[in-house]
Amino acid sequence: MKKILVTGGTGFIGSHVVVQLLNKNYQVFVLDNLSNSKKIVLEKIRKITGKLPNFIEGDIRNINLINQIFNENIFEGLMHFAALKSLSDSEINAEKYYDNNVVGSNNLLDIAVKKNIKKIIFSSSAAVYGNQKSAKVVETMLLDPITNYGKNKLLIEKKIQKFQTESKNISFVIFRYFNAVGAHPSGIIGEDIRETTSNLMPLVSKTAFGQIKKLTIFGNDYPTKDGTGLRDYIHVEDLAAAHIKGLEFFPKNKNISTFNLGVGKAYSVLDVVKTFELVSKRKIPYEFSKKRPGDLAECYADPFLANSDLQWKAKLNLEDICRDVWNFQIKNPIGYE
Ligand code: NAD
Ligand code: UD1
Repeated sequence: MKKILVTGGTGFIGSHVVVQLLNKNYQVFVLDNLSNSKKIVLEKIRKITGKLPNFIEGDIRNINLINQIFNENIFEGLMHFAALKSLSDSEINAEKYYDNNVVGSNNLLDIAVKKNIKKIIFSSSAAVYGNQKSAKVVETMLLDPITNYGKNKLLIEKKIQKFQTESKNISFVIFRYFNAVGAHPSGIIGEDIRETTSNLMPLVSKTAFGQIKKLTIFGNDYPTKDGTGLRDYIHVEDLAAAHIKGLEFFPKNKNISTFNLGVGKAYSVLDVVKTFELVSKRKIPYEFSKKRPGDLAECYADPFLANSDLQWKAKLNLEDICRDVWNFQIKNPIGYE
């Protein structure tokens, strides 16, 4: 059985990828320090797949541990999800983010490359694009991230390019995710929301459920169809499917391939609210406030490259997303506890 090491595998996106890997009969090793996830996710994965992934509780910054993991196993591939992910927190705690995300990734990738791991997939973000002239972003654009989080992702992408210039044998897939949302259709796993979350979809869901009285919509005077911000919301199940395609893509992949993972459509905050109301049959009270600093009016993916080279296309739409988030909300009213 082919072994895959998944860092951050008990997290939101990682756990959905682990389910699909297990369903494809890969032997999965999860490495996670549980800083933003819980061990119970492993049991939930077993409930869905009938299989329990191997679990190593530890940190990607721990050089001895990473060496030990690679010495004890021969991996077919590495999927690197482990990171801190709050854009706003990365502004307040810049050093913590640099240490966890950049130092951690450098450490992990240095060892993985030394051990000759042939298939490495790295989770980057749409945040690397920053403010572009066009709202629809293409992989080849000059990158100009605004937040520390985005700048850190770019540093890791550059580190990956450096590996390639040093050795022609290395091949990587870099995925730039847009707004990852949704949940497994079973409602067993999804996004285990922290009190501190500032992302739209979980806040919409909590408002529909009555845990939040009113949703705050940041800005109603953007130059968009209804004045609210436009984003490319992509179902986590579609993201997970792209990772399986990513693994299969490697024999053809000569060096570094960077793909946008988005639907290629922009939905407004009000589109999300209305679709969620429709699906949940609940009213979502909201009020407008001023724009959130650093927010773009509009950003969505040009997914052409992933559609053509990976033969991957997002299959699920905003209604599917809202339905699965609502199902997860009902089945896990207070998250994973
Ligand atoms: P998540 O927080 O749910 O999962 C990340 C996991 O990594 C968590 O389980 C956490 O405990 C673990 N982790 C963090 N630092 C670690 C460390 N030093 N060592 C070991 N484990 C560590 O986040 P997610 O939404 O699943 O995101 C996964 C990846 O995708 C991240 O790299 C994130 O930056 C990227 N990404 C996410 C989105 C999104 O919308 N969620 C969008 C773009 C990119
Ligand atoms: C950004 C990144 C995305 C990353 C995410 C992680 C870009 C283009 N996208 O998403 O890749 O995964 O951060 O945090 O850089 N909103 C409200 N009220 C709220 C919360 C949000 O109106 O309470 C609005 C925002 O103004 C925005 C939209 O909803 O227009 C989505 O916001 P959010 O879910 O926070 O994600 P982004 O900041 O777009």
